[in-house]
Amino acid sequence: MLSYRHAFHAGNHADVLKHIVLLQVLKYAAQKDKPFWYIDTHAGAGMYALDKGYATQNAEFSGGVSRLWDAGNLPQAIRDYVDAIRQFNPESTLKCYPGSPILAFSAMRADDRLRLFELHPNDYKLLNQSFKGLGLGPDNRKVMTEAQNGFAGIKALLPPPPRRAVVLVDPPYEEKQDYARVVEMVKDSLARFATGTYIIWYPLLQRPEPQQMIDKLKRLQLKNWLNVTFTVQTPSIDGFGMHGSGLFIINPPWTLPGMLAGIMPVLVEKLALDDGADYTLESRIE
Ligand SMILES: C[S@@+](CC[C@H](N)C(=O)[O-])C[C@H]1O[C@@H](n2cnc3c(N)ncnc32)[C@H](O)[C@@H]1O
Repeated sequence: MLSYRHAFHAGNHADVLKHIVLLQVLKYAAQKDKPFWYIDTHAGAGMYALDKGYATQNAEFSGGVSRLWDAGNLPQAIRDYVDAIRQFNPESTLKCYPGSPILAFSAMRADDRLRLFELHPNDYKLLNQSFKGLGLGPDNRKVMTEAQNGFAGIKALLPPPPRRAVVLVDPPYEEKQDYARVVEMVKDSLARFATGTYIIWYPLLQRPEPQQMIDKLKRLQLKNWLNVTFTVQTPSIDGFGMHGSGLFIINPPWTLPGMLAGIMPVLVEKLALDDGADYTLESRIE
């Protein structure tokens, strides 16, 4: 069942946290004079219009990226994120939002490669159109897209030829089996390629599966990991809905805990929907 369309959520608080971190991880990877791969197991449509279509229905971006768009005095990592989005909004009004594959593309160098999976046929088509819009044809060697299940497709890519990779795992979790699929995929991926950086996104919900998934990931005997959660509002009384999101990162840059300690209070202040907004940050880096 593929009912999830990321266009409804583009630029919301969860995208803000995920994409700030993604850009910083890629920036760190690009410091070394050796190419790397970016693998996105759940890539989405690439580029999202914020001024028409699905995104306008609930205007989730107004509680996310919009709140940072004109904010002054932001820490560098948040400024990097806003600047990256500005590249795609030349008129300085926020009209479109680049998803993870396009943001990653903007942060990568000529010899780095993107390998992107998107299962939804419409979003797959849009993903390819998004790259075409940036001037990339199907015969380019930099970006490869697959209309395939990313949980399975990643197996054939690991270990990646340059032995360096950043992997984003960003499933919709509309099917609760996605939590188990993530753990299985991570276990298998680490057996194939232990030194990659894996960024796993998850929702904060009033149900046990997200925390159970994190507990299982921590039990994989990882040497280096980081877990950050960002709550934007008090969990609802009826028990439904997403009150925030988290990222579990395996083999994060050693600089990431310090960077997040600096920016999370700012994100809480700027994106809070009520006084239940908060963050947690824990990490183990050897
Ligand atoms: C949360 S969205 C991705 C957003 C994107 N990573 C970003 O940050 O801009 C999840 C995407 O995964 C796609 N999807 C769902 N199951 C999938 C699977 N097993 N393999 C690949 N894509 C899948 C959905 O169609 C949806 O576009």
